[in-house]
Amino acid sequence: MSPDQLEALVARAREARSRAYAPYSGYAVGAAVLGVDGRIFGGCNVENALYGATVCAERVALWTAVAAGLRELTALAVVTPNGGAPCGFCRQVLAEFAGPDLVLAVAGPEGAARVHRLGELLPLAWGRDDLVSGGGGGGAPPGG
Ligand code: THU
Repeated sequence: MSPDQLEALVARAREARSRAYAPYSGYAVGAAVLGVDGRIFGGCNVENALYGATVCAERVALWTAVAAGLRELTALAVVTPNGGAPCGFCRQVLAEFAGPDLVLAVAGPEGAARVHRLGELLPLAWGRDDLVSGGGGGGAPPGG
């Protein structure tokens, strides 16, 4: 991925951040995913009065992409108030649609992004290949 592409993706994440709905935490986040087909989808965090119903910007961006038919990602950029990296839930959800080489660009409101790979932030990711049939042995009721 070229520096220009990376910069464009971070710019889209910054733009999405301006639409964050974060009245409870005040922590506005924007994200943008780049698909293998070159399309970019943005997302922001959307909070809820039932705090646990909040969704992170990264998952909003990713789910928007999936809903538009994208199934494979090249990169994700996230912009947070302090350059914080994606949470564990989002790393797991990203691993559903990307391999360990996924580029993860993490930035603050201004300045350059730090670039990581998904495999660095989520080593030994658990995924569909780990979902092997237990042959019924694992689900037996106690005493049953
Ligand atoms: N948040 C994100 O959108 N992405 C992250 O990776 C970390 C946290 C949001 C969720 C919530 O709206 C706020 O930041 C504080 O946790």
